[in-house]
Order: sequence, then structure tokens, then C-alpha cells
Amino acid sequence: MQSYDRRSVLKGGLTLAVGFLSGCTATAASTRGALSEFRPVPLGNYSRDGVTLSPDYEYQILIPWGTPLTPDGPEFSHPPSPQDQLQQIGIGHDGMTYFPLDGSSRRGLLVLNHEYGSNQHVLGATTPTRIEQVHTSQHAHGLSIVEIEEQAGVWQTVASPIARRVHVNTEMAFSGPVQGHALLHNSANNPVQGTLNNCANGSTPWGTYLTCEENFNFYFGATADFAPNPSQQRYGFMATGVGYDWHRFDPRWDLSNPAYANEGNRFGWVVEVDPMDPKARPIKRSALGRFKHEGAAVVEGMDGRIVVYMGDDEKFEFIYKFVSSENWRTLRARGISPLDEGTLYVARFDADGSGEWLPLTIERPELAAKFADQADVLVNARLAATELGATPMDRPEWTTVAANGDVYCTLTNNDERKTADAANPFAPNPHGHIIRWRDTDDHVGTRFSWNHFMLAANSYDSENSFGSPDGIWADPDGRLFICTDGNQAGGMPNQLLVADTRTAELRRLLVGVPGCEITGITATPDRRTLFINVQHPGNGLPSVTSFPLPFDGVSVPRDCTLVLRRNDGGLVGS
Ligand code: FEO
Ligand code: CA
Ligand code: CA
Ligand code: CA
Repeated sequence: MQSYDRRSVLKGGLTLAVGFLSGCTATAASTRGALSEFRPVPLGNYSRDGVTLSPDYEYQILIPWGTPLTPDGPEFSHPPSPQDQLQQIGIGHDGMTYFPLDGSSRRGLLVLNHEYGSNQHVLGATTPTRIEQVHTSQHAHGLSIVEIEEQAGVWQTVASPIARRVHVNTEMAFSGPVQGHALLHNSANNPVQGTLNNCANGSTPWGTYLTCEENFNFYFGATADFAPNPSQQRYGFMATGVGYDWHRFDPRWDLSNPAYANEGNRFGWVVEVDPMDPKARPIKRSALGRFKHEGAAVVEGMDGRIVVYMGDDEKFEFIYKFVSSENWRTLRARGISPLDEGTLYVARFDADGSGEWLPLTIERPELAAKFADQADVLVNARLAATELGATPMDRPEWTTVAANGDVYCTLTNNDERKTADAANPFAPNPHGHIIRWRDTDDHVGTRFSWNHFMLAANSYDSENSFGSPDGIWADPDGRLFICTDGNQAGGMPNQLLVADTRTAELRRLLVGVPGCEITGITATPDRRTLFINVQHPGNGLPSVTSFPLPFDGVSVPRDCTLVLRRNDGGLVGS
């Protein structure tokens, strides 16, 4: 693994990525020539009437916000009633996974996150004036589980006994070291309820879905005097909130209400959902730590241990991984969740291209001196990670694990960085970058080697420009699908690109509509169908776009899923 200085990174740009990390070209694809041959969308091509796609691809709209979960459900009207919204697709489509039924690439469950929707978008009002509106907003968050099927070339929802919503008031449980701890207890004795700001996702080898709670602090506010403690400060709780104003009608979200003093500690977790079992309560897996979880990339490591890579999306926060204590099958055979027994680590990136995973355990003297117990370490994972000297990163978003063992993480941008370091080489960093590492011992070791895969600034003025990488997915052949969420060259909307990880060649597959983010990516097992999300088109404003309808200046734009296919039925991304 070569080391390098910052100047060579900046000058080397994309070519630096070529051939790096020995062994990374050893895929079946390397014998086949170019991984992507589709005709790309030219820079600057976009429309407010619809997404712009490579001429070699076709797309279909699926499940816009408010679509009934099953064909007999209530049709969308704006704003939805709280009762209707419970039986409809939520808003803010983000991370998602296609779970095939009987292995099918034409029928499966689509499980998707609903990250957020502004009051203006959801309610048509800047602030709620009664509890019913708060309930509509709460029911629009969370996740949707729908059964979908391709019939005569068209994907649609079908009647299903397991289609359902999980939302902000759904009953949940905790497991792992924090379960039952005083840090989760409120004197109101209210049950554990709800998940929110569900950003990216993951799925496990045992068939469950992981949904990740990101900006949970945004939903809290104070109706009276409130002075945040150091933990609340680090997690960004503010008396003013950011405009949801749930706390004015629902005391659970009121930071100044002593009966709900620890409600904020119940959010910021990875939540496991069994998509196939509507009776199973979602479980907050506390061993994975509390922070602004972007996503959870799961891989089976050495000895069958389960490894979960996770980013904490905030400026100067960290990259984590969890490693189960034993083989996941052994643990499950004993009735133990592999996500409950293990070690949480945080990453330190060293300037010589190596790095170390630092264990967040109360046995570490630095942590024993400052934290009461393991639960305290996990609830305050950010503060503990700082004590261990983890490397503050430029907003870690999604992670993905390639077939050859390389792990990729998008660092979306950081306009506040004042001092560059090896891992975050721009100060400020307006366009972001993608970092790549490989762990020792097949994902379970505590050392790693790393390099940059792409520095977006280096190609920002070129035809293949992109900025603010966010969603990513490494396919089994060596393609890296890259979704963006931020400024693009020439004011172009957010986009989906496909990179060849062997050559760092980039092609633009899709450009969204103005104001949207492109995110959430999952494929059928045959990889002939790709599902991707258009989040907050027009930022919810009818004056910007009417997507998925052609522009009319009046219709409220709606988040939705796109089904992408090659015209010739080939592999997506090829
Ligand atoms: Fe929900 Fe960091 O994106
Ligand atoms: Ca994101
Ligand atoms: Ca983002
Ligand atoms: Ca988003």
C-alpha cells in the first residue's frame, strides 16, 4: 500500500485510483473489457418535466408518496389525513432493499425508508396548528413494506398480508447493552415508540432489514427553558428545533418536559425489522451505537462473524464498524442476535495510508475514566470516539462492500473544514470525496489500509462532473453506483453515475429533476432491474417541478421510486 502526500492526491486525481489496493482487479469482470458501455447523459441535460436517462435505458414510476400500500387502500389527497397516511407510502424515499419472494426477480417485497418531509410539503403549512397534523407528519415518516410484482412489463403493488407501515408511533423494543438502562427511562413511563429520519439502510444474511436513524435531533424542541447538557450539545438538540414543531402538541418531543428527559436517547440507533413478519416488533440494536446513522453495510467476515460498516453524517464525525463476537449462525442457533453480541469500533485514518479500528469498550482506560458503563459509552458513542482519537471526517454518508473486500464510503462535503489532513484533503471541501479501505483478517481485524477512490473536485469541471456523493452501491462485477446530494456543475440537478472501480471511468446514467436528491438503490437478484429513489423533488415546491407529473406549476411534487432497466434487458450499469 503506497503512501502519498496531499499534493500528489490533488494532482493525481482520478488516475490515482487506478489499480490501487493490490488484488482489487481480481474479479470475473476483468476478463470482459469495459464494465459500462451505455451512452451517458451529457453534462447539463435535465428537465423539470421528468428525469433524464441514458438512451440505452428506460424507467417507470413506482409508489409515489401517498400511494395506497395495497390496491384497495385510500387514494392520495393533499394533505393526507393521519388515518390515510397510515395506509399509504410515506414521504422522503431513501435507502431501500428488494427482498425477493421465492428468489424471484419479478415479485418481492420492497422495503424503503422515509427520511423526512417538511411541514410545507406534507401538510401544506409551515407549522401544525393541531395534533392531527402532527400525526400526519409522524405517519409520513418511518418506512414502508410493500409487495410488488412485474406484470406484463409493468411493476405494481399487489394485495399482500404483510404490506405495512412502520412509523414514529410504532411500538419498538431495545436489545443489547443499553436495553433497560436508566439512560432510556422516562418518568412518564412511556413505551419505546417509533423510528424517524430513516436515512440509508442495510440487510442481513438472515433476511432482515436495517433502517438507520439519522437527524433525530431535528424533531425535538422546547416549550420552556432548556439548557442542553454536553451529550445533548454533541448530538445537536436545540430549543428551537428545525421547524417540525411536534413538541408544541406532543410532549414526547418537548426537551423542557422533565417527564420525557431521556426520550432523545431512544433515537439515533440502527433498527432491525423483519419484513416477512408483521407481528415482529422492530428492535433497536444498541450494540451498534448511537449517532446520526447514515447506513449499515453488512458483510460476513472471517469465521462467519458479521460486520457492519456505518457512517455518522455530520461535519467532523466518524466512521464505525461493528463486529459480532462469533459466527452469526452459531449465535442465532443459540437464540442470540449477532447484532447484540460484539464490539463497536471507530476508525482512525493515519497519514501513511494505514489505519486502526479503535474499540469503544468500557475496558479502555480512556473510557473507563469518563463513562459510567458500556451503555453510557454506546449512548454517547460520539463523545467516546473523540476520547479514543478517531479521525473527524467530512460527513460520512453511505458505505458499501465490494466483492473483492474493498469498502467504500462517501464523504459528501464539509464547508467548515479549516485544516486538511490525509483522509480529508480539502479545506474547505465543497464537493466531497469517496474513500476506500481494506481491513485485515477479512473485515474483522483492527488494522486497515486506505486510499482515496475519487476526489470530486478533481473532475468537477469535466464532462463527468459530480459533487456531494451520498448513496453508493458496489455491484458484484466491480461497478460502483454513485448517487449525489448537493451542488452539481452548472446548476444541474442531482444524478446517478456508474464508476468502474478498476479504471475509475465514470458514466452518467440519470439526472433528476430540479430540487431533488437521488438516493436509495437496490436491484433484483438477476440485476436486470434497478430501483432508485427521487427524494424531495423540487424540495416539495410546486413552483419548481410537478414530478412525477409533467410541470404544471400547481401539482405538489411527490417523492417516488424509479424502476430502471436497460432497453435490451441487460445488466443494469452495463
Ligand atoms: Fe440522510 Fe446523510 O443523508
Ligand atoms: Ca444520505
Ligand atoms: Ca446527503
Ligand atoms: Ca436526504
